Amino acid sequence: MDGSFALSALGSLTFGAGTLDRLGELLVSQHHGKVALVTSRTFSSSRRCDELLRDLHARSILCSVHPVSGEPSVTSVDSIARSVHGDASDVVVGIGGGSALDTAKAVAAMAPLWAVGPRSDTVSVKRYLEGVGDLAPPPHRLPLIAIPTTAGTGSEATKNAVIAEIGPDGFKKSLRHDAYVPDHVIIDPTLAIGLPRQISSASALDALTQLLEAYTSINANPYIDALALDAIGRVGNALRAFLEKGEDSVPLRSELAYGAYISGIALANAGLGYVHAIAGPLGALHHAPHGVICANLIEPVNRAMMEVARDTVFLEKMERVSRLWGEGVVDRLGRLVRLAGLPRLGTFGYTAAELAAIGEKATGRTSPVTLKSEDIVRILHGLY
Ligand SMILES: [Fe+2]
Repeated sequence: MDGSFALSALGSLTFGAGTLDRLGELLVSQHHGKVALVTSRTFSSSRRCDELLRDLHARSILCSVHPVSGEPSVTSVDSIARSVHGDASDVVVGIGGGSALDTAKAVAAMAPLWAVGPRSDTVSVKRYLEGVGDLAPPPHRLPLIAIPTTAGTGSEATKNAVIAEIGPDGFKKSLRHDAYVPDHVIIDPTLAIGLPRQISSASALDALTQLLEAYTSINANPYIDALALDAIGRVGNALRAFLEKGEDSVPLRSELAYGAYISGIALANAGLGYVHAIAGPLGALHHAPHGVICANLIEPVNRAMMEVARDTVFLEKMERVSRLWGEGVVDRLGRLVRLAGLPRLGTFGYTAAELAAIGEKATGRTSPVTLKSEDIVRILHGLY
């Protein structure tokens, strides 16, 4: 084995059908009595949410609910953080997709700052974002529990929250600190049963992109390779069964949820590649969901990489993936994307000039293969 590597710490994990029911006893065991629940609107209006709130009430745990929709924004994080501080909540629980979990993560980091007083100009999360802010992220946060409901971003296993402002001068930037990895993760795959096919497939294709980019990253290591390769096999096969047979089962949802969690660990330790380098600025310009952007890019980017790749490690890794899938990597990716039937990028209002500007500036981050900027622009123009 060549080189050295380090692994980021993880919180504890409880995985399995019905494990959401264990949140109450976890909170009691951690002596929490005032919970700030940051949830997706879908979960906050669900029967499972009502049952959860009844259980917490029966345990004499006070709870404030903060429903969120759309991408996490500076405004929503600042507003919820101020409210959570005002409530004197002693733990933040995020339940939902990546947006809810990232909002919860940022709120847990920012709420303690309100203790310095409302006249402070240092309480907005914008001042702590990479590439946008001017201050180092605060190292202390409220205790944080993450409960993903869509198997996608893997935010439950990462140390960053992506905050977006959408528009011509928009940005998608991270609030990042080693201390922001959630303390506890509960993955209950039954929470995803019945989710719309488009949300499920876009989320899974995001997770699959993250797994492939981390697995083939120049910063990969044997530990991450082992986790990521196994998860790539599971997600690629489970998503095919889900999309082809219309099967919505606990075992399939478990494969996708597990894969998304591993994708978070993999990206946090090995980094990401071209698709995510392009997806960031694309997502900041127009309201295109991150998973849909990844779904648009995953096949053409991997096809272009395979065409020019000379890196034997990369090619061997792609060969291992094809053996798990029983067909070529690009063929399987194309099959999954076609079955998912997600909107093309062009439907979100991107102009040819915007796509060209993003393509010309794109770097491969930790990709083992270098693509020419004209090839990236050609890929983007092909997504109308
Ligand atoms: Fe992603």
